[in-house]
Amino acid sequence: MTTHTPKLIIHGGAGRAFADPSRAEIVRASLNRALLPVMDELLAGASSLDAVVMGCRLLEDDPIFNAGTGSAIQSDGIVRMSAALMQASKQRSPTFSGVINVEQVRHPIDMAAFLQSDRDRVLAGNGASLLARELNLELHDPIVERRLIEWLRERGLDFAADAVDVVAGAPTPEPEHEHGTGTIGVVALDSSGAIAAGTSTGGRGFERVGRVSDSATPAGNYATEFAGVSSTGIGEDILDACLSARVVVRVSDGFSLHDALEKSMRESQAREHMLGAIAISHDGCIGWAKTSDILLAAYHDGTTYADTIDLPHGTITQVHEG
Ligand code: GLY
Repeated sequence: MTTHTPKLIIHGGAGRAFADPSRAEIVRASLNRALLPVMDELLAGASSLDAVVMGCRLLEDDPIFNAGTGSAIQSDGIVRMSAALMQASKQRSPTFSGVINVEQVRHPIDMAAFLQSDRDRVLAGNGASLLARELNLELHDPIVERRLIEWLRERGLDFAADAVDVVAGAPTPEPEHEHGTGTIGVVALDSSGAIAAGTSTGGRGFERVGRVSDSATPAGNYATEFAGVSSTGIGEDILDACLSARVVVRVSDGFSLHDALEKSMRESQAREHMLGAIAISHDGCIGWAKTSDILLAAYHDGTTYADTIDLPHGTITQVHEG
């Protein structure tokens, strides 16, 4: 069997530019705290699926990201989280699993991982919460003070903001509370050539009860033996584009990763969509693309690592060749 050099890319959201540039260093440090240990595991032989779950767990635990602890709060004051996982290889058909709007768990991605081998692979709402109890997952309150302050402020404004901080550029909160960012995602290629993608989110923030995020759908998270993609940004925009599956299908149909991302971003830009995506293709290319001001992503090619935090504002596609 051919051995591949493992590749890894992770993100912590996309959105409007930081009002305070010092936020870039805080986000960079957080991304690297997840990127480097996960890459160590991949280089030591971990599967892409295990690497993606590990990366998502680390990012869900970091309160600056809108997933797991630190998730955005919905209009009724409750946090409901969604997560998805998909893996594929030449030997294994793609399998998508996920949970939608689950409450009071620490790692929604663990539930998506459990559902990979279940007959019923996507559970929503009460069913997802029942599974959490069945799995004896510890009850966990994911609300952090910064999100509560943000929610209280927005409630006073009748939830006029279209999303939480950074993801859609809600009014800048007090400086000490302005580290909020977006959805998280991880895409990995392992040494056997298997690709996995995982995405986890607290949603857009301030949404109606029952709103379904893109993250636990093939629009937000998709992988086949050809490529894996995790998307971030405004969920409705990502759903309209069916962004992750769109990019992956283009690669399956023979597009290079760069061209698949570029064409998809141009289409989203024409519709004034606010989104971004990270991707890895079967030939080891690592890609990232956005229509938003910023994309908070970091990647490792097996030797060196870098991030995308300082990319120029506006639509851009870049690929690190495999
Ligand atoms: N992309 C996350 C959401 O809008 O729910």
